[in-house]
Amino acid sequence: MKILVTGGAGFIGSAVVRMALERGDEIINVDKLTYAANLDNLKGWTERSGYAFEQADICDSAAIARIFSEHQPDAVMHLAAESHVDRSIDGPDAFIQTNLVGTFQMLQAARGYFDTLSPERKDRFRFHHVSTDEVYGSLGEDGLFREDTPYAPNSPYSASKAGSDFLARAWSETYALPVVTSNCSNNYGPYQHPEKLIPVVILKALAGDKIPVYGKGENIRDWLFVDDHADALLLILKTAAFGETYNVGGLNERRNIDLVRTICQLMDEIHPRPTPHEDLISFVADRPGHDQRYAIDASKIERELSWKPSVTVEEGMRRTVAWYLDNEWWWQAIRQQGFEGQRLGLASKEQEHDG
Ligand code: NAD
Ligand code: TYD
Repeated sequence: MKILVTGGAGFIGSAVVRMALERGDEIINVDKLTYAANLDNLKGWTERSGYAFEQADICDSAAIARIFSEHQPDAVMHLAAESHVDRSIDGPDAFIQTNLVGTFQMLQAARGYFDTLSPERKDRFRFHHVSTDEVYGSLGEDGLFREDTPYAPNSPYSASKAGSDFLARAWSETYALPVVTSNCSNNYGPYQHPEKLIPVVILKALAGDKIPVYGKGENIRDWLFVDDHADALLLILKTAAFGETYNVGGLNERRNIDLVRTICQLMDEIHPRPTPHEDLISFVADRPGHDQRYAIDASKIERELSWKPSVTVEEGMRRTVAWYLDNEWWWQAIRQQGFEGQRLGLASKEQEHDG
């Protein structure tokens, strides 16, 4: 299948591109190459036959229309987005542009292109809109996010993704564009930008710097190894019926503080220092509007598409820690471009103190 992937130079998009190429699909990777992109994520893959790259902004309707017309894809996997909650607090503009306006332009271009397809190609065409469980807001102690949980986004990031989900739904209902949507929990694994929690912990621990845990570390996330997400995304693209939505999750709920301690223990084992890495943990000012708990009910995708995560959180964390230790070249290059693990997402300067 010839798949147009947006955001294929990002963390999850590059995992999708690598897996799809490995399985024999063709890829057109459309990426603007923002700060979050890294073509090193595709090192060794870009020379393969069946891979094409187009540097373009998804908000640029003319560029996107040309790419559809020139490459004639069988399907779209739309992952391009601004993805970091803390950055959305500091600067929501780019989130509105890319996540809302960009998704709108992608849907419009896909709709124009879809109209040109033969009936057989129309039957097979899918626009897979890739989204997050954060659209559902925050859970209390009990309950899980299901596909029919009402949307209640709390951050500029999740609000922009929720809006993009509604646009995708509307283009499916109103224009019969064959959309499928998936909402996934927190991903982790190799090639994740060092701004996100897991790489923050690994790289701070490695440097012997303080490990910042927001608030009391009692917020809960449901962690999924990135390759398990990529596998679910390709399965949904190829087997889900038009109009369906699926929640994808790791069945791995952890309090942040427990996860951080697990990573510290792995670091003690793999890269010991004179005192335990846990001594570096520092509780810092909380994120404004910090969602308390995310947890996914993945029973629909398990039941209907026979998908299950294959990597336990213990195994995945071990692989991830080992990967960052073995691939210093990868994250040092990002540091050299100016990101050195600084605190992001404090809406006001007054909050900037250690708790
Ligand atoms: P990422 O930030 O690592 O990568 C995003 C990619 O999109 C980058 O390569 C960037 O250059 C590209 N991009 C951004 N703006 C663009 C634009 N205007 N035009 C073209 N390309 C642009 O993100 P990620 O973590 O890989 O997330 C990918 C998708 O999965 C996003 O839609 C995100 O909302 C969703 N998601 C992420 C997670 C997670 O835990 N990371 C969980 C669930 C869903
Ligand atoms: P993050 O990786 O930013 O993902 P998201 O906010 O999309 O869930 O953060 C995961 C959790 O870790 C979240 O509860 C915020 C917290 N966190 C910290 O405690 N310290 C950090 O340095 C970062 C980046 C996040």
